[in-house]
Amino acid sequence: MSLRALVWPVTIFAITAYAWAPDAQHGAAVLKEQNCLACHTLDAGGASYVGSMDLGTRLTPNYSPSALATVIWNHTPAMWQEMSATGMTRPKAADEDWADVFAYLNSLQSPKGTPMAQSPEGNRVRGRLVFEEKGCVDCHRTPTTLAPQSPRPQKKFTPFSMVALGWGSGEHMYQEMRHKGVAWPRLSAQDMSDLVAYVNTLSW
Ligand code: HEC
Ligand code: HEC
Repeated sequence: MSLRALVWPVTIFAITAYAWAPDAQHGAAVLKEQNCLACHTLDAGGASYVGSMDLGTRLTPNYSPSALATVIWNHTPAMWQEMSATGMTRPKAADEDWADVFAYLNSLQSPKGTPMAQSPEGNRVRGRLVFEEKGCVDCHRTPTTLAPQSPRPQKKFTPFSMVALGWGSGEHMYQEMRHKGVAWPRLSAQDMSDLVAYVNTLSW
């Protein structure tokens, strides 16, 4: 193999790694801006909201993007109910904001500068099974052939975009589930990685 062939992948990796630099400090600002602290605390100390929950405690054994995304995904409908009950407008954070929020939550658990844990490796074959077993395919399919369809063709999904869904078009999805009598699917971190790997293979 030529030296050039070796150097390129390394360079590309370095650039990608540099481009993705989650900013924990900005994550702390997002939590405030998005009103998360109306219901949650960060240190259990300043609980002003009845039943407030502390985001500074350990939320999952492993702080990887998939694991944290799953914790939030699984609680999403409960959070919406609470927001409707309190008349609060729904926060709307972008994918990158969620990356920063996760980096901040990670910084509360780990010595300063410790990067987030790696997500479990996604397996797209298993992802297809999850897409079927969790009922995603019942709605995300082409009307004619009933073949699985990407929830948003051309979009590159990550665990962060799966969380952002709960604060974006997710409510539409939730209404559709209620209409069809389907429960909000609960996912594991492995399911999340597998789903992301799979939906990214669906080009339409
Ligand atoms: C209107 C209140 C409310 C707001 C605003 C809110 N949450 Fe929550 N959140 C809840 C409730 C209620 C639960 C617990 C649901 C349950 O027990 O199933 C929860 C659960 C969670 C959990 C899981 C906690 C655990 O112990 O497993 C995380 C993480 C979380 N929220 C993060 C956030 C973030 C980040 C924001 C801001 C973008 C936010 N929440 C905004 C009410 C809220
Ligand atoms: C009952 C029907 C239904 C089921 C089941 C369902 N979805 Fe959806 N999904 C929707 C609807 C409706 C939307 C919103 C489309 C819109 O508003 O643009 C949506 C949106 C999405 C989006 C957001 C696309 C974007 O970028 O805006 C993702 C991601 C998604 N679904 C993934 C899933 C996954 C993963 C599952 C299975 C765990 C699933 N969906 C199960 C109906 C469903």
